[in-house]
Amino acid sequence: MEMTFTVNGTQAKVEIDPAETLLGVLRERLRLTGTKEGCNEGECGACTVLVDGLPVDSCIYSAAATGGRRVETVEGLTLDELGRDLQAAFVAAGGVQCGFCTPGFIATLVSVLRENEAPSEDDLRTALAGNICRCTGYSQILDAVAATVSRRNGR
Ligand code: FES
Ligand code: FES
Repeated sequence: MEMTFTVNGTQAKVEIDPAETLLGVLRERLRLTGTKEGCNEGECGACTVLVDGLPVDSCIYSAAATGGRRVETVEGLTLDELGRDLQAAFVAAGGVQCGFCTPGFIATLVSVLRENEAPSEDDLRTALAGNICRCTGYSQILDAVAATVSRRNGR
């Protein structure tokens, strides 16, 4: 079947298998390989992208259900100021080690910070419950968010 959706601000028309996942379409058909494939079971968050502004696990999200919707991946998110600020803060704070989880964290955090310019640590821990990082121990990631919030709020 043919499916049309918007990816990172550009309309894309792709031929898909009705059973295909959004992750498969992004990585295999559109070559947007910034979004990572981890557990493939909706458990690790490595595949997180935004659909109409909300984070989804693209490994278990039907590509067909994305028709007509707006998808944002790390490639597009880091072109915007907020995504760029987060990316730089992750590097500066040591929130990136192997980097496999980072695109998913960036997607979730962009969604959070668009809605709330100064989330509490509890807000962040709740929002990030579906994103797993095996390297950093999370404190560096929270430090990166705090630095981003401070920078953006001029503190
Ligand atoms: Fe999608 Fe792990 S690869 S949640
Ligand atoms: Fe390696 Fe998070 S930096 S899994």
